[in-house]
Amino acid sequence: MLLITGGAGFIGANFVHHWLGANDEPVRVLDALTYAGNLESLAALRDDARFGFDRVDICDGEAIAALLRRHRPRALLHFAAESHVDRSIHGPGDFVRTNVQGTFALLEAVRGWLGELDPAQRAAFRFLHVSTDEVYGSLQPHEPAFREDTPYAPNSPYAASKAASDHLVRAWHHTYGVPVLTTNCSNNYGPYQFPEKLIPLMIHHALAGKALPVYGDGCNVRDWLYVDDHCRAIARVLEAGRPGRTYNVGGRNEVRNIDVVHTVCDLLDELRPRAAGGSYRQQIAFVADRPGHDRRYAIDAARIEHELGWTPRETFASGLRRTVQWYLDNQLWVDHVASGAYREWVDLQYGSARDEVLRTGAAS
Ligand code: NAD
Ligand code: TYD
Repeated sequence: MLLITGGAGFIGANFVHHWLGANDEPVRVLDALTYAGNLESLAALRDDARFGFDRVDICDGEAIAALLRRHRPRALLHFAAESHVDRSIHGPGDFVRTNVQGTFALLEAVRGWLGELDPAQRAAFRFLHVSTDEVYGSLQPHEPAFREDTPYAPNSPYAASKAASDHLVRAWHHTYGVPVLTTNCSNNYGPYQFPEKLIPLMIHHALAGKALPVYGDGCNVRDWLYVDDHCRAIARVLEAGRPGRTYNVGGRNEVRNIDVVHTVCDLLDELRPRAAGGSYRQQIAFVADRPGHDRRYAIDAARIEHELGWTPRETFASGLRRTVQWYLDNQLWVDHVASGAYREWVDLQYGSARDEVLRTGAAS
């Protein structure tokens, strides 16, 4: 059994589908269902006996400890986070709470629970922490890509909170012997991504006839990776990664934002031409830049390629085409995640796992 925090979010949900598509081992998703968590992304698994869900906040160490004792996982994969840079600029508190305090609470719950296991079970357990390349800061155009030994230099509140969580994970390994693995991945894209991030936002706005807001000069560079390739990397690190080690994951695919947006427009022109005629490119609008906007990210993925034999399968062209097609085929998913009615229903239907776990005495 794998416990998966944040499994109702973008990458977590893709990972759950990826895992259950290839393995019989059950998964249990732990997720607070914030605005970014969406059970519709997991709806196809509702009747699958290998899938289970608990609504829980990772900051609630008591509830997490109870769930560890109840499910006795062989690994905990930690995806849950506040993940959007622009939101972190407007409200950094949530990022410190979930990404720093939440990771701390999880590590402490795991440490306590591991203390109840015998040494062989303890050694076999894995805490896999899913992190980002943004902890390394920003690159100049001709600087080499981020390696695992590149010094941390986070610039946004989001990146700083993820860097802090990475340090906690590292320390819980060195000090307490928790068997941890950390992955630092570049920008992901693909199905089930909340339409606040660049690619789904552009698709959503284009189809709605709205402006496509490109920050600054549009020449910031990101290293894009199709989400299923990231999921394959995480599964591989879980299988063969060395405890205490970190692995950079990236597609060797650096693209300027304006080129990403142009490609999205061109794909939409082909797959869903504008009713009014002309190209979606006409909707592009350059807007004020993001404060502290990192210029360039690039990942050197040599370690995971050479040590674990992982390489991406999708090219940017093939992955982006699949992604645009997915959004065209799943407009209802977008409409629902963007609506407040969905979250009201979730509160009504699911309440919180904490009350349920503590009421049924699962902590004993
Ligand atoms: P996301 O925002 O789509 O999903 C986050 C999930 O975490 C949601 O389901 C949300 O409900 C849940 N969550 C948030 N706060 C919680 C809390 N306090 N308790 C329990 N659950 C909570 O994020 P994502 O894009 O899927 O990213 C997943 C992980 O991967 C994050 O740790 C992120 O830092 C990392 N990452 C993301 C990218 C990317 O491009 N999206 C790239 C590299 C690394
Ligand atoms: P984003 O998807 O927010 O990811 P991150 O900031 O974590 O890299 O943004 C990707 C890039 O796209 C980033 O350089 C900011 C830029 N961007 C825009 O130009 N316009 C937008 O509306 C958004 C959301 C992002």
